[in-house]
Amino acid sequence: MLDEVLESGWIGQGQKVFTFEEECKKELQAKHFIALSSCTKSIEIALIVAGCMPGDEVILPSLTYASVIQVIIKLGLVPVFATIEKEDLNISVNGIERLITPKTRVILPLHFRGHSCRIDDVLAIAERHNLMVIEDAAHAFGSYYKGSPVGSSSHMACFSFGPLKNICCIEGGGIATNSDEIAEKILTYRNMGMARSTWHRYNNSSGQDKPWHYEVVARGDKCTQNDVGAAVGLMQLRRIEEIRQKKRKIIERYLAELPEEKGLEIPATDPQNDFAYIFTVLAGASWREPLMAYLWEKGISTAVHYYPNHLQPFFAKYNRGPLPVTEDAGKRIITLPSYTDLAESEQAYIIEEIKKFMKQV
Ligand SMILES: Cc1ncc(COP(=O)(O)O)c(C=O)c1O
Repeated sequence: MLDEVLESGWIGQGQKVFTFEEECKKELQAKHFIALSSCTKSIEIALIVAGCMPGDEVILPSLTYASVIQVIIKLGLVPVFATIEKEDLNISVNGIERLITPKTRVILPLHFRGHSCRIDDVLAIAERHNLMVIEDAAHAFGSYYKGSPVGSSSHMACFSFGPLKNICCIEGGGIATNSDEIAEKILTYRNMGMARSTWHRYNNSSGQDKPWHYEVVARGDKCTQNDVGAAVGLMQLRRIEEIRQKKRKIIERYLAELPEEKGLEIPATDPQNDFAYIFTVLAGASWREPLMAYLWEKGISTAVHYYPNHLQPFFAKYNRGPLPVTEDAGKRIITLPSYTDLAESEQAYIIEEIKKFMKQV
């Protein structure tokens, strides 16, 4: 499929992007899906389309990717960090309502690790207070919640197809929405505020149609996906069940074999419904770094998703006080390898080495 794109003479946003959008729409059971250059850009556009104005407040968890806070600040908005649930590390629904002020415009929950937050409860709160919900579904393409795909029920859900995601376009993102009006605004925005994209103007046009003519009718940006990235994404999207099964097997094995003792905990994970992007455990705060260093020496690379954003130096002015569950997770969380090509023998080695380390704790 990649050869086809490279030889077609059209590598920018074109037919492959539109096919990718159609297939994402089906997978997500959403009315519209608009492909964009990244999830970071998708969240930025969603905030603009939601009508956010400088000074407006956005409620979100602190345990998230730093780019989300960066775009909130870039737009002159104020991030308001909500507490998270100990059980699954997703936004705590009970904590949201007391953060709502007359300046609140958006609730931006994350489906951390591909495990859905209680989105129906978040939507109910938003409806009561006339707020928009923008889901950060960067980790959750292909996950399910109460029988529906994650991202099919809110005003806008933003997805990532970055290099490490389960479905990857090299880089990429997109927004799912059920609103015709919102979809129209996003489409115009991604084409620099032009009503028709270059592809739509030049394909199947005659000279009478003046394909070279364009008009800028609204605010916009250049944030399109291209046909090369869309082709890479499409090849994986058409194997989504195979990828899902591989991932599920890896997660189920970790759940079955990792020792949940001496303070090693696993946040709530549902292998049947989560298309888990990452698999994380919570170690002891005093031995998280030694365990990571030990695994590194054994050739096993791990990561931290995430260091809490309210404690980051650049975001310090948005820190409104302690978030104990978030801060505890930030000191204890470790992401273990769960990429789909992880061999059974490699996973056995990882589990074995964790067990060996745990004997010394
Ligand atoms: C929670 C979360 N939100 C947003 C993003 C941004 O996605 P992208 O890299 O596509 O901009 C990421 C990236 O991994 C993420 O983890």
